[in-house]
Amino acid sequence: MNTMSKLTQSPAWQALARHRDALSGTSIRALFDADASRADRFSLEAAGLFADFSKNLLTDETISLLTGLAREAGVETRRDAMFKGERINTTEGRPVLHIALRAPADTSIFVDGIDVVPQVHTVLAHMHRFADAVRDGAWHGHTGRAITDIVNIGIGGSDLGPRMVCEALRPYGHARLRMHFVSNVDGADIDEVLRAVDPATTLFIVASKTFTTRETLQNAHTARAWLLASGAAESAVARHFVAVSTNAEAVRAFGIDTDNMFAFWDWVGGRYSLWSAIGLPIALYIGADAFASLLAGAHAMDRHFATAPLERNLPALLALIGVWYTNFFGAASHLVAPYDRYLHRLPAYLQQLDMESNGKTVTLSGERVDYATGPVIWGEPGTNGQHAFFQLLHQGSALIPADFIACMQPHHSLDTHHAILLANCFAQTEALMNGSPSPAAPHRHFEGNRPTNTLCVDRLEPATLGALIALYEHKVFVQGALWQINSFDQWGVELGKRLAVEIEREIAAPGTIDTHDSSTNNLINRFKARRAIPAAPGPRQS
Ligand code: F6P
Repeated sequence: MNTMSKLTQSPAWQALARHRDALSGTSIRALFDADASRADRFSLEAAGLFADFSKNLLTDETISLLTGLAREAGVETRRDAMFKGERINTTEGRPVLHIALRAPADTSIFVDGIDVVPQVHTVLAHMHRFADAVRDGAWHGHTGRAITDIVNIGIGGSDLGPRMVCEALRPYGHARLRMHFVSNVDGADIDEVLRAVDPATTLFIVASKTFTTRETLQNAHTARAWLLASGAAESAVARHFVAVSTNAEAVRAFGIDTDNMFAFWDWVGGRYSLWSAIGLPIALYIGADAFASLLAGAHAMDRHFATAPLERNLPALLALIGVWYTNFFGAASHLVAPYDRYLHRLPAYLQQLDMESNGKTVTLSGERVDYATGPVIWGEPGTNGQHAFFQLLHQGSALIPADFIACMQPHHSLDTHHAILLANCFAQTEALMNGSPSPAAPHRHFEGNRPTNTLCVDRLEPATLGALIALYEHKVFVQGALWQINSFDQWGVELGKRLAVEIEREIAAPGTIDTHDSSTNNLINRFKARRAIPAAPGPRQS
């Protein structure tokens, strides 16, 4: 028999279901018509961000019921436990302390009686010294030339965060340094980069929390072999390779001197790690001061999240609005549409942050959930998305709530462009909400009533970006806490990894394979039979 969970049985959940039914006769547009102050009442400023969440199907009662549900579900207690360093990542027995990575030096956060903040600042100082040396040319390649290209080798959290931030803060980047990110084990990824860089002036950062990730180690080995093949002596490796990891032993075993290793800790989740030494590419690119501003912006959001009542707490509100649509309207996905070219990797970054955190169906007490959890996160920058998939947002059958992100001031002086860009951003949220009042023909009709949040910053700079990322981190936290799942493990990635290792072995072994289902056997055997490079080499194989 299908028993209802405590959460779905709770009075707050039941009241929300009734409230949803009661709102079915109204529309977001009608809520605006009835309340001249709606935009002001349903918007908030925090840590340099302005968020307008008025274009949602919600009222004061909705907020009050949602915050009531969050309280009943123990969201605040769990938040406080995270800030106190309790081991809230229960399946791995670890605290969750990315907030410690941006804590000011004069604060304290204890894990097992030890203050971790001084350790954080020691590593930050190490990163900053190194970044200064590379940026001013004091750290140079083995022939004495300054570093011009930095290649970060890492995947998942050891790639997406630094890559997204380096892209977002490109206007702040060092003029001499070109940043490259190699993540995929697809040889094309590293091949393209190695073709573009000079071994004498390239620095590789091998970034892996565990230092066991197959893709990263393979790419690092390939890069090392490439450096040595260029004529560099073994001793040159120390000038061209640094590592970022929690696993000093594995770094040593790989052949990187641990003097060239930047440490972090097991209480930093991979997808929450850009603030740690995993952010080394960021510090190298934008410099120590700007990296400190990124951390300060995130810390400002941390303070807001830790102290503001849920009713005026931006991460909590965005999370609860998401819960409203996911659990009471059946929304299965959530769009992120940054109207800023520099944020073009933000949706990819948020995919890992949100989907690896909340893509779970088992609660903290080991039961299967009877409610929807993490939605699919997706997106592309505007206005490009408008000319691709926005059709479905406006007239498709699915309800897709969306975040629009707008920067008031651009990093260029093409004012007309910026006015057109933001006009489009505002027009889309208005059109999604209002639809078309008097349809000419059914196919030209827009139903409207499609919800959006609009997040604004004055300018995309290190501090505002830090606050924006932390906002999403805490949004994910609140949703996971409310859904009673562990947002900080990722066991779901293990099965595929294990099978790939087995199949890799089978590919290397002679003969055909019959150990899998017939489809998998066929695919492996087809690859084994046809993988040899054909008689006529491709354009890149000659
Ligand atoms: O396989 C998933 C994962 O463990 C992510 O959680 C992580 O960010 C990524 O792989 C990379 O892991 P690592 O930094 O240990 O190489």
